Amino acid sequence: MSLTGLFLITFLTLHLAINLLTLVDKDLFNEASHFMATNIGIQAMQYVLALGFIMHIGLGIVLTLQNKKARPEKYAFNKPSANSQLSSRSMIYTGLLVLVFLVLHLKDYFVELKFGDMNGFNNDYDLVVALFGMWQYTVIYVLAFIALGIHLNHGFQSAFQSLGANHSRYTPTIKKLSAIYCVVVAVGFSAIAIVHFVNS
Ligand code: HEM
Repeated sequence: MSLTGLFLITFLTLHLAINLLTLVDKDLFNEASHFMATNIGIQAMQYVLALGFIMHIGLGIVLTLQNKKARPEKYAFNKPSANSQLSSRSMIYTGLLVLVFLVLHLKDYFVELKFGDMNGFNNDYDLVVALFGMWQYTVIYVLAFIALGIHLNHGFQSAFQSLGANHSRYTPTIKKLSAIYCVVVAVGFSAIAIVHFVNS
């Protein structure tokens, strides 16, 4: 789970950087997007990316079911907030919310750009701007980005821990980086949606 998670984090960081270009320059974003959609190396990576998502989601579901099976009876006394954060206890729920978002997102962008008529638009930028022109769409996206941020808050630090990087000297720094990263992702993606909605 940790390896696929870190791989998806790398993708997400690149995806955020490219999408932030929509706030800077239309042509620059379209060029970057075109490069990502046509470069042979990136195209090959798309299969690895799909596999990464499938493995991460599948393993997450299996792990949650195994945990439930390991303790079929509830504790007589249980105060989870005493030893774990809400973000760590809600990983399966925030993960499933991100999955619902992903299905919607792939339908509107990936499928549209690859197989559709792009709703009549002839470049990625115009499609992004048109979709965020709808308030319902922007609200759904921003809610998904908040869920993604909560998911990453635990996921980022937990990935390092699972790989054995658990040290009294480095763990506090990893936890701080994790907190910063989840805010950058949630605020960065939300800013794209909100700025385009406000400008529409
Ligand atoms: C403001 C937010 C976002 C915008 C504007 C955006 C835009 C896009 C666009 C234009 C594409 C099509 C790229 C192409 O094939 O030419 C795409 C694909 C994709 N997006 Fe996003 N995206 C956003 C957020 C996210 C998030 C948060 C995730 C993951 C949790 C994500 C996952 C994906 C995936 C898996 C693909 C398909 C792979 C690919 O084509 O490279 N996106 N997105």
